[in-house]
Amino acid sequence: MLPYFRMDVGRRAAFLSVARRFGTPVYVYDAGRIQVQAEALKQHLPFASFFYAMKANSNPAILRLVRQLGLGVETMSRGEIRLARSLGFSKERISFTASSISEDELRFAARYAGRVHLDSLHQLELWGRLRLGEEISLRLNQGFGAGRHQHVITGGPGSKFGITLADLPRARQLAARYKLRVVSLQQHIGSNILDAGIILRAARSLFAAARDFPEVHFLDFGGGFGVPYKPEEQPLDLVRFGEGFAVLRDRFARREGREVACAFEPGRFLVAQAGTLLVRVTDIKQTERHLFVGVDSGFNHLIRPAMYGSYHHIDNLSRTRGPRVRATVVGNICESGDIFAKDRELVRPRIGDVLAVRDAGAYGFAMASFYNMRPLPREILMTPNGTVQDISFSPARFLMKTKGR
Ligand code: LLP
Repeated sequence: MLPYFRMDVGRRAAFLSVARRFGTPVYVYDAGRIQVQAEALKQHLPFASFFYAMKANSNPAILRLVRQLGLGVETMSRGEIRLARSLGFSKERISFTASSISEDELRFAARYAGRVHLDSLHQLELWGRLRLGEEISLRLNQGFGAGRHQHVITGGPGSKFGITLADLPRARQLAARYKLRVVSLQQHIGSNILDAGIILRAARSLFAAARDFPEVHFLDFGGGFGVPYKPEEQPLDLVRFGEGFAVLRDRFARREGREVACAFEPGRFLVAQAGTLLVRVTDIKQTERHLFVGVDSGFNHLIRPAMYGSYHHIDNLSRTRGPRVRATVVGNICESGDIFAKDRELVRPRIGDVLAVRDAGAYGFAMASFYNMRPLPREILMTPNGTVQDISFSPARFLMKTKGR
């Protein structure tokens, strides 16, 4: 896997030029990086198919790139399905993971998504009653989860997701009553996992669960592949994961005398490192405790630090030399929790400097809001041959336009 990359001269110049040309705040995406990440997954998991978790970044230009790279999409709302369809993803390339959805949305998903992973007994019953199809997929919660923050742990006793092991006998009864065949199982234990051993353990448990479902021929292991946000963090060992996974898969086929198709739903891994949020310093204030560096963006554009305490590396692009200070980088939103980084070492910024908030391609723009009536940032795509394209997208406009369709 590529090591965590340093800000080199060429990249710095390219970012500064984008900031000059398009203004700040602005999200800049590196198409080459997405391609590298996708190729790494394909190389180490050659027999798997991939459904990009589009909640991580649903910019249409990025989704088009993902489609060109041969990946499908994992969706979880009617809007995501609509967007994927409008960009040419075929039904088989769209999977749907349902959570707390209405009857209406379930019908919609059954119609337009190739595979719907049912999340509860209620959904299973609805599926049967509405006769949405004979074959079903169940999302399991096997009692354990993992992730960097409580909010991103999506398995285990404290999680709302999946059908628990205790509910499985009832799920089987319901399936039998409505003559449904469980042909697929899915699991997603959490997000931003950097330890290959943990994802392997989760994979092993899904293979084990599949042994009790003789008709299952498809296993979806979810996403969760982490990326290093801090310079000292080690990337996920995909070689180890790929080799370990192949062993599990072969063992299952040998013991059970049947093969299962395997899929993953990476979100963050594909796009996190490809994205940078460029912001401009608008105010500087020294208090007794902190050197506050105020910028022209905030948690309305990147909520991860405020919501999960996430670390995003910050570089001062306008200044490479000069005294280094410990700065608390804050936004322009009316809340004291509007902090990008606390007491972070930076080359001392001046008003007007451009800062790069790194690794913001996943769950950045996707979680942005209009809080305080500030507009969303523009989105720019840089391609390996040096072109720079404005790919700004308005989710609000898309949703208004497609309402009722
Ligand atoms: N599949 C399912 C069913 C999911 O719920 C998720 C993410 C994924 C795949 C993709 O997970 P990934 O590969 O990106 O880890 N907003 C949080 C992350 C929330 C993840 C929710 N589910 C963050 O910014 O860290």
